[in-house]
Amino acid sequence: MTNEIKKIACLGAGVIGSGWATNFLMKGIPTKVYTRRQESLQRVKNAVEKNLDFLVKKGFLHEEVKNRALEMVEYTTDLKTAVTGVQFIQESLPEEYDLKHAVMAEVEKYAEPDAIIATSTSGLLITEIAKPMRYPERLVGGHPYNPPHLIPLVEIVKGEKTSDAVVQAAYEFYVRIGKEPVVLNKEVSGFIANRLQLALYREAVDLVTKGVCSVEDIDKAVVYGPGLRYAALGPNLAFHLGGGEKGIKGLMSALKESTEMRLRDMATWSKEPEGWPDVAYEGVLREIENRPPELGKTVGEIAEFRDTVLLELLKLHRKI
Ligand SMILES: NC(=O)c1ccc[n+]([C@@H]2O[C@H](COP(=O)([O-])OP(=O)(O)OC[C@H]3O[C@@H](n4cnc5c(N)ncnc54)[C@H](O)[C@@H]3O)[C@@H](O)[C@H]2O)c1
Repeated sequence: MTNEIKKIACLGAGVIGSGWATNFLMKGIPTKVYTRRQESLQRVKNAVEKNLDFLVKKGFLHEEVKNRALEMVEYTTDLKTAVTGVQFIQESLPEEYDLKHAVMAEVEKYAEPDAIIATSTSGLLITEIAKPMRYPERLVGGHPYNPPHLIPLVEIVKGEKTSDAVVQAAYEFYVRIGKEPVVLNKEVSGFIANRLQLALYREAVDLVTKGVCSVEDIDKAVVYGPGLRYAALGPNLAFHLGGGEKGIKGLMSALKESTEMRLRDMATWSKEPEGWPDVAYEGVLREIENRPPELGKTVGEIAEFRDTVLLELLKLHRKI
């Protein structure tokens, strides 16, 4: 895989497609954005412009870079136009095998045989998505985190037939556009980050369901506790610091007994408690009621608050 990536196709124009398009464009790479319907094109155009405007407003992007980015983007409802002549295709269509299979077959009719295809799938298997493909070795998982233009993590996942050269090229490309890719050694459902997130969330649901605390308390405990620390260090390095001179090894040994006691008491279920979505919704509404107005009250304001915090953190991590 030696082809230089000069042009990209971004398939799908939802939350993830528009974030990816923003990311590619802010890094100066000409991008064609494809979606099925004319009305979605206007929506994604607005979303990309809004993302770029926000970065300019916050002082993280020069106005000229934004203007150049807007000259480099092409929006289309024609898949052939989108994938012809590009070296990298980022697929962010709905999470369904049938749909992804149909689109991959169509893409392969028009794309260059050595164009890399990365799928944003959160939970489907790369091996399975690649099944009907003529060149399955070119399909790789490139799983972003929402919002993709701000969160650096990309989980790179190899299907059974993905070639090592494609994994390497995808890795180098994501690094080039400012991401922090992690390559999985094995294909597992949910990859790394979503599994970790779900492990925490299962315990959160369990604590609320058992009446230990409220939905709002869970969010407070995470944001003002481990969440703050995790924004600086991963769980292993955080424990390493917690162990003083003996580091993580000392900490793990010292806490072994109490850790195992806690683990025996923690949630292991795999069926969500009945009625949880309603409980979560009510809890979140109450949490928003109690939220100070300066941290945002509407979904739009809260998203802006999140992105403002993310930008400051990214600056400290030297990732923007
Ligand atoms: N939302 C997240 O937090 C998130 C995070 C990481 C990865 N992902 C993954 O990214 C992918 C897209 O997720 P999303 O949240 O952006 O979805 P979404 O529903 O917001 O967007 C999907 C887009 O595809 C378009 N579309 C629907 N059917 C189509 C078709 N037949 N042909 C062409 N376009 C079609 C829709 O108009 C929409 O623009 C999924 O695979 C998902 O698992 C999502």
